[in-house]
Amino acid sequence: MEALLVLTDSERSQLTERLETVEVSPYEDYLAFSDRVSKLVIDGGVPERLLRAADRIREERSSGVSEAHVLRNCPVDEDLPDIGNEDPSAEKKSRKVTFIGEAFLELLAQITRTPLLSYANRFGGDFFIDVVAINKYLGQQTGYNGGEVVFHNDRTAHPVRADYITLLGMRCPPDDLVYTGFVAGRRLLAELSAETQQVLREPYFVTPFDVVSRDANTELDSTPSHPILSGVSSLRYLDTHTTAADDAPVEAKDALLALKNALTRVPKQRHRMQQGDVLTFANQSALHNREQIEVQDPTRALGRWLLKTYAFSDQAAADTHRDAWIDGIPGKVGD
Ligand SMILES: [Fe+2]
Repeated sequence: MEALLVLTDSERSQLTERLETVEVSPYEDYLAFSDRVSKLVIDGGVPERLLRAADRIREERSSGVSEAHVLRNCPVDEDLPDIGNEDPSAEKKSRKVTFIGEAFLELLAQITRTPLLSYANRFGGDFFIDVVAINKYLGQQTGYNGGEVVFHNDRTAHPVRADYITLLGMRCPPDDLVYTGFVAGRRLLAELSAETQQVLREPYFVTPFDVVSRDANTELDSTPSHPILSGVSSLRYLDTHTTAADDAPVEAKDALLALKNALTRVPKQRHRMQQGDVLTFANQSALHNREQIEVQDPTRALGRWLLKTYAFSDQAAADTHRDAWIDGIPGKVGD
């Protein structure tokens, strides 16, 4: 994808210097960390072009012009530890002593006015999580599998859902062709008849919980039937897994087939994440995937590391879940 903004080297290094002053760990005290970042914004420490890009992201999201945006040459920690594939998040927290990537993602959330969201039962309730292969999930259907991931959206069975996902390239093997794909829900719906859309709005479908959710919550054994489509273009879909419920009428299977055909045909956006790239995109009202077109060295490919945040569409959307906050931390919800 074409970048909305490529920071110059001097913009990036000046911003990095400012982000370095945020010494509080976001993993120990997220509120204090977030507060330090907002002081940087208030003190005028953000490049003007980045502020304008954030405004444009907000405008293009609300007008429906684009729900996926790329920024390049963004600040990333200079000394990234090796975090392995056994328990990368724990390794990160014990070995990573600077928080440049985290502070940049927090800054971006603040200037795009999309408050962050975290799940208490996932990665200790951290607001900054790692997309890294985890040995026990290799080859399974999850983003931590070290391989390809079918079109889906994240955590759509959860009562509190992320409107946006933002990824920051921390370590991306430069010779590999690994792409994140994106399809906006409204693009997909344009391929479907009104009758098909109506059937997709009925609770005729089932989607098994993914392995990471089941590991975090052993009570998640069966999933109730659900609609695939709700609201304007909000989706709940995991390709090759979401299917028609046993007792669903035959038109549910027809609608599912039409959706799969549409997903094959529809033009996709693809981005090859590089170190310092940000890809920020709609979660609920879109689908995303990961394709490995060419991997030069499978072992090195396991070192690919993206830092990820979940966010609400705006403060009002976050505020509707105020009663769900855990430990008094806005945005942190249970599982
Ligand atoms: Fe995902």
